[in-house]
Amino acid sequence: MGRDVDFGVFLPVTNNGWVISKTSPQFVPTFDYNRRIGQLAERTGFSYLFSMAKWRGFGGEVEFWKYAIESTILMTGLAGAVPSLRLIASVAPALIHPAVLAKMAATMDDVAQGRMGLNIVSAGNKGEYAQMGLYPENFEDFRYEYTDEWTSIVKRLWAEASTTFKGRYFELDNCIAYPKPIAGQMDITCATSSERGFQFVAEHCTDGLFGGLSREHQMQLSRRMKEVADARGKKIRTHTLIMMIQGDTDADAERLLAHYAAGADQEAIRNIYELRARDKKPGARGDRYKQRFESADMRLFYAGVPYVGGPERVADMLEELAVDGDLDGFLLIFPDFIEGIERFGAQVLPIMRQRGYGRLTPPYPTQT
Ligand SMILES: Cc1cc2nc3c(=O)[nH]c(=O)nc-3n(C[C@H](O)[C@H](O)[C@H](O)COP(=O)(O)O)c2cc1C
Repeated sequence: MGRDVDFGVFLPVTNNGWVISKTSPQFVPTFDYNRRIGQLAERTGFSYLFSMAKWRGFGGEVEFWKYAIESTILMTGLAGAVPSLRLIASVAPALIHPAVLAKMAATMDDVAQGRMGLNIVSAGNKGEYAQMGLYPENFEDFRYEYTDEWTSIVKRLWAEASTTFKGRYFELDNCIAYPKPIAGQMDITCATSSERGFQFVAEHCTDGLFGGLSREHQMQLSRRMKEVADARGKKIRTHTLIMMIQGDTDADAERLLAHYAAGADQEAIRNIYELRARDKKPGARGDRYKQRFESADMRLFYAGVPYVGGPERVADMLEELAVDGDLDGFLLIFPDFIEGIERFGAQVLPIMRQRGYGRLTPPYPTQT
């Protein structure tokens, strides 16, 4: 078999990354740590780095996500240190005016010499915005309409000499934004598991990302996201989030998982569940959420489906996704990013390459 796919690293902008445990690696997110991860990922053969926008943590003994460095600044700072990878920074439209972001993004793209992409976050968690007084009443009901208008404005500002616009949420009067991104537009991604989100991806994005609850669910989401895009005559790439618990053998990996599970920070897990569940209406989204936090394995991780195994088992799981799920990208999370990327690069990537899984996005030529 075999086809080209991209491996990305979900950079840890938050303390302890995504494992909600007292026995997993404990760290604070610094530029230096992320730089070392990015440089290692580049040497190892990854295609891109991605970071998220986060504004409020969840407490618990580990003070989960109390520390969160800012995504656009991090990615811009990494551009010089990691010169050949695609970089994707996250922004939440509810927090920033589109004209401000259009100029920021073009500047970021200039620093990164055309390698910068934007991940648009339709809302995230209500508490992050409400603490700033920036969560409009009933925003959940119209967050995609808002995000859609916001994104259209950003793209028009990049494309037009001047933009005049009167919409539902924004008014622009002969608004001018220079410079433009190097390629005129920038890659736009969105992380979503909803049908409304898939429409947004089809309308505006080059790539769609999602988490999911199981491998089967990840494959289903990828196929559905592409189906929605196809119906609009669009081609998109799909990426999914994977929590990589890899050992030298399957048994080693399972032992590692059991070790993290033994130290689960139940208070942080409960806080996350309660805070996030409150924001979600009953229905498919709320049910999926409940399922995640009622599952013994999944509740230990804020996001990502855990892939637990030795090199062959992990490679088999990835291959299944690429073939049956038509996945184009794997956004990897590791409990310990340095050790995890090294192990993945030494043990799994060679198997994937040998099975014919090349790289979808080649390294960008390094400018001087
Ligand atoms: C790969 C990935 C990246 C994400 N990045 C962010 C982010 O940067 N900030 C955030 O608040 N939420 C982030 N999320 C969460 C979703 O974007 C968020 O929950 C969104 O509201 C889901 O929309 P939906 O209801 O359409 O599924 C991310 C999720 C995934 C899978």
